[in-house]
Amino acid sequence: MSNSKKLFLRSKKVIPSGINSPVRYYDPYPFFVAKAQGSSMWDVDGNRYLDFCNGYGALLLGHRRKEIVSNVLLQLKKGTLYCAPTELEVELSELISKNFSSMRKVRLVNTGSEATMTAIRLARGFTKKKKIIKFEGCYHGAHDYVLVKAGSGAAHNGISISDGGLDEVSNNTLVVQYNNSDELASILEKEKDVAAVIVEPVLANMGLVLPEKNFLNDIRKLTKEHDSLLIFDEVVTGFRMSTGGAQKYYSIKPDITTLGKALGNGFVIAAVGGADKIMDMLSPEGKVYQASTYAGNPISVVAAISSVKTINKIKNKLYPRLERACKALASSLGDMASDMGIPHQINSISSMLQIFFTDRPVVDYSTAKAADSAKFKKLFGGLLKHGVFVAPSQFETVFLSSAHSDEDIKKAISAYERALKTVKK
Ligand SMILES: Cc1ncc(COP(=O)(O)O)c(C=O)c1O
Repeated sequence: MSNSKKLFLRSKKVIPSGINSPVRYYDPYPFFVAKAQGSSMWDVDGNRYLDFCNGYGALLLGHRRKEIVSNVLLQLKKGTLYCAPTELEVELSELISKNFSSMRKVRLVNTGSEATMTAIRLARGFTKKKKIIKFEGCYHGAHDYVLVKAGSGAAHNGISISDGGLDEVSNNTLVVQYNNSDELASILEKEKDVAAVIVEPVLANMGLVLPEKNFLNDIRKLTKEHDSLLIFDEVVTGFRMSTGGAQKYYSIKPDITTLGKALGNGFVIAAVGGADKIMDMLSPEGKVYQASTYAGNPISVVAAISSVKTINKIKNKLYPRLERACKALASSLGDMASDMGIPHQINSISSMLQIFFTDRPVVDYSTAKAADSAKFKKLFGGLLKHGVFVAPSQFETVFLSSAHSDEDIKKAISAYERALKTVKK
């Protein structure tokens, strides 16, 4: 019996489903990790995997980037948690603000979920309105405001995705089709109590779905017209699409932005920010409550400062190289699938991509859901067998990091080729 299997059986006895976040499970059991470095992870049985899951996008600079590790080691000698302010927090917030001009003031939090929860509460406090609008298939964390799917009513009042989620909360979240600004316009016309529209500017939680031309501009325009705030959830896209995230990439200025993942390159940190007049609503000066013991802890903050400084330093090489590698992977993947006669779509941008087994373009939730996920499962299994780890779900995204060498990309293409053969069968 493999060491991973032994650990999984042991884990199931003390951890629900044997894992600490649902998507980590796949049949028959996940490999258990021993260590990681650069573009690779090794499991407890000594197998090596090229990592294209990359902490669901967090590891833009790869595992154990040297500048980050050495700065964190230095900080470990000075303390791990003060719960009193530090110059480091000021420095990081200044850096974020410089990179994201819409984030004039920044609160540091721990996770993306905390950031979106705070952003929504802020929007409600600021506008004195109650409802929010989200787009079907966008993921903004595991809390009741956003763990919502479209209900059946004409107004698209959301219903909770989760047992234990309160429909009294979900009812205040309206759900609109992604890439459908006409639907958004008509709901905003009817519904006068909308505090904010929250969106993943590039949708990386339904596989990868790109915003169609004008979609983001339309949302910006409509939210302004209806006195609702626009929240860009850049937990995935922040720092990944550019030094200033998707908002810089598309030249759109949201009212509130949430960051996470690549901000700390694998350390636990997230942020929420916006204009002074919005951010000043936060307690203790303002009346919108937000708090956390670990917010701004020096270990995560040092890691984030190092990440952002490294990204800013290498940006001229980093982004073009990632984009080139991603394009090479996506186009080889497309060619191989076409040559094998496998109906497919590939969505790709920046350093992200995903393949869907369907002959219709994937532009929203229903077209993503229509893809053959059983085929994706085969692809995932095949990739794993050939030493490539991608997120184990059709509804996640393949992420590249700066640690992937040209050789790694070649190996990944060859693994995809072999895995696609199992899809074809
Ligand atoms: C776009 C987006 N927002 C928010 C979150 C929640 O972040 P976290 O898992 O750190 O709570 C995620 C997580 O995947 C995400 O992809």
